[in-house]
Amino acid sequence: MNIAVFGAGHIGLTTSLCFAELGHQVMTLDIDAEKIKNLQSGITEIYELGLKELLTTQLAAGTIRFTTDLQKTIAFSDLIFIAVGTPTLPGANCDMQHVNLAVQSITKYASNPKQLVIKSTVPPGTNARFAQIYAHLNHQFIANPEFLREGSALLDCRKPDRAVIGTLDPAHIQNLRVLYQPFLNTQADFLVMDPTSAELTKYAANAMLASRVSLMNEFSKICEKVGADIDCLRTGIGADQRIGTQFLKAGIGYGGSCFPKDIDALIQFAECQNVEVPLTKAIRSANDHQLMDFKNKIVSHFSSRELEKRVAIWGASFKPETNDLREAPALKLVQGLLVEGFAIQIYDPVSQPALKLCFKDEPKVQVFENQYQALSKAEALIIATEWPQFIGADLAHVKQKLNSAVIFDGRNIFSKAQMEKHQFMHYPVGRGPCAQS
Ligand code: UDX
Repeated sequence: MNIAVFGAGHIGLTTSLCFAELGHQVMTLDIDAEKIKNLQSGITEIYELGLKELLTTQLAAGTIRFTTDLQKTIAFSDLIFIAVGTPTLPGANCDMQHVNLAVQSITKYASNPKQLVIKSTVPPGTNARFAQIYAHLNHQFIANPEFLREGSALLDCRKPDRAVIGTLDPAHIQNLRVLYQPFLNTQADFLVMDPTSAELTKYAANAMLASRVSLMNEFSKICEKVGADIDCLRTGIGADQRIGTQFLKAGIGYGGSCFPKDIDALIQFAECQNVEVPLTKAIRSANDHQLMDFKNKIVSHFSSRELEKRVAIWGASFKPETNDLREAPALKLVQGLLVEGFAIQIYDPVSQPALKLCFKDEPKVQVFENQYQALSKAEALIIATEWPQFIGADLAHVKQKLNSAVIFDGRNIFSKAQMEKHQFMHYPVGRGPCAQS
């Protein structure tokens, strides 16, 4: 199949490469000429497990091409995937300008009817609206939301739990069935539904996952109050097959390019339809409170002691195995601590360049290239992201570098036994502090 992908971002690039890997001819278009030039030479700034290697092999195999040439891309393709960004506008509406532009360009330049498959996360009703506007041109508009996680996007693309296909006309789906079948476990994982349900499925999936995280974060506060352990709760409820074990880890809240944006967009969308969504709003506010409460724990530890307000933070990306700083709880924590008068020494395994840029005008934030050097003279270590190299840290070395043996463990990466062994004052989430003996 000749496949065009509009947008060479995280989703567009991953999807393009996975289709190319199956032997299809893929042409990926982006308006960013610099990005396209880099991709043509096998260079990508996206930090994603295995992505660079797959880019190299598919370029060598000649299955993928990168271009800024719109008309060439349209003429080349049987199937056009739209995977451009839909960021949040002020007021929380979804910014549709890139999707609209892509659709307008295709409908303007295509000399024959095309299958337009919209992967970008769009408000429910978008595909139906396009189908109505462009009905006279006989293009097919198909919703096909993506569920890729950063850090395991290739794995998710190659082995998805399901493919959600939104179209009212079953005649539209044959190409997509052929395309997705090698990735899916069974035919039953190819889910065909109306486009609006498919679009809403994406918002609902993210809201459902985020609600689990927010609920566990809320339980973590009750645990702290009554001396219970959130990780015991997680095991206890996760063993119920109706609940399952995933997305039950308490911490300092969710972040990233999807959960916050999609939950805001869902709230906005529902309100436009005059639908009250108090529960969805609560997911967001619980997430904000979780981070604020964690920050307050740090502030109150310092306010009850004569200490210089200097802390080290390990982890900046919104989760491990990504360099993505969008809506990262760590960055919000830095901002909150700066307001409280703290000096911050931060380290992240892969986000240093972006962090340096982010804090270039902030003299109270120092970005380090070594996790242990970041601890020097700090009165506490804060864990903001659970990178494996932090979980396996040399705690004796950590203790030696810090001024005070105090850890605020925002991701519960250290056990009580470890903290007792090395005599740290430990503030985990949902477990109650463990005092230095
Ligand atoms: C998410 C969805 O999982 C994916 O299907 C969708 O396509 C895009 O949004 P992603 O943003 O990459 O993917 O991250 P995800 O792994 O879902 O984690 C989101 C946030 O929740 C992270 O900040 C993570 O730290 C947090 N989280 C996740 C928890 O705090 N606890 C958990 O148990 C799981």
